[in-house]
Amino acid sequence: MTTPLVTLAPAAAPTPAGPSATLLYNDWYPAMRSDALRGKTIRTTLLMGIPMVLGRTAEGRLFAMRDSCPHRGIPLSCGWFDGRALTCKYHGWAFEPVSGQCTSIPSLTAEDSLDPSRIYATAFACEERDGYAWVYVPEPGTGRVRARSQAEAAGLPPVPETPKFSERYRSQHLAAELPCNVDHGIIGLMDPAHGPFVHQAWWWRKRASIHEKAKHFEPIDEPFAQGFRMAAHTPSGNSAPYKLLGVYGEPISTTIDFVLPNRRIETIRCGPKWFSSITTVTPTTPSACRIDVYAAWNVFYHLPFVTAIATFFGKRFVAQDQVTMIQQAEGLKYDPSLMLIDDADRPAKWYFALKQARLEAARTGAAFRHPMQGPVTLRWRS
Ligand code: FES
Ligand SMILES: [Fe+2]
Repeated sequence: MTTPLVTLAPAAAPTPAGPSATLLYNDWYPAMRSDALRGKTIRTTLLMGIPMVLGRTAEGRLFAMRDSCPHRGIPLSCGWFDGRALTCKYHGWAFEPVSGQCTSIPSLTAEDSLDPSRIYATAFACEERDGYAWVYVPEPGTGRVRARSQAEAAGLPPVPETPKFSERYRSQHLAAELPCNVDHGIIGLMDPAHGPFVHQAWWWRKRASIHEKAKHFEPIDEPFAQGFRMAAHTPSGNSAPYKLLGVYGEPISTTIDFVLPNRRIETIRCGPKWFSSITTVTPTTPSACRIDVYAAWNVFYHLPFVTAIATFFGKRFVAQDQVTMIQQAEGLKYDPSLMLIDDADRPAKWYFALKQARLEAARTGAAFRHPMQGPVTLRWRS
């Protein structure tokens, strides 16, 4: 009897995958935290169903490549990175990781006419903001994608970033994997009616405090920002974090923007004090996503324990959404028919309409047509 050299692990039992979502390309998505990329460490992740390998060059520049050697497809992450070149483990082809350009094919002889510099592995534009490695994911099949060069820089949308209103601030981030597709992750994010049920807690709000609300929305239609804004208002008095902010005794204003493809940006200002956050729902695959929250603030700047408290509450809050969406994903596996109601689900309807408009514009090359005609007031109880 021969003994196999390598024992392959048995395949995991198949579980029905939930429904897939159509993905929006030609935009920036957070691939991972950038502080995970130190020294010569390379890390892998899945983004929009694409296996990626990320790292940082000796000069400190982030890079993101498709984790696949263009020669025979072995993951480049199986090879070696010395701070300058990522070398494939199979036949030793070396690549400059920011551009993806091949710099060496060891098997070539002086007789060979093949010029390695004409070969590229797929590299993506990758920029660091708010401690994330943001990767620009172009439409598949749009040809070789090189990382952002000076010339290309003009054409790409700006890299997303949380607005900040002072030099000094504290910040915190959270992440949670969701087993549902990006559409469900996003509409869960903008859904006002689940708050009193999913986030019921003494420190947040009680179900008995449900009351009718009217919120004003307006379209956002700028060259690189398409979505809608919940206009500035004094936040609901039954939310404890807002009560905390109220100690400053100045009027509080809040805006919550949703912009395609996946971003919710909240800004709370109270005189010179501010709190802002960016929440993104990023497709890891067409049927799964990850929610990332990055918050920055200068409120209570001098109280060191506030970061710990904010993290604790933030984690509880995101975990409540996560648990609910894991349960929802169980139900979605069996492809139920669903509904969206007025007015509580109107933001979700806008999201789907905005997404359709963006896909349509990409398909036809015509200008983006915003689905909202103008400002709208929505009413619901929460
Ligand atoms: S598979 Fe990468 S060098 Fe051959
Ligand atoms: Fe929630």
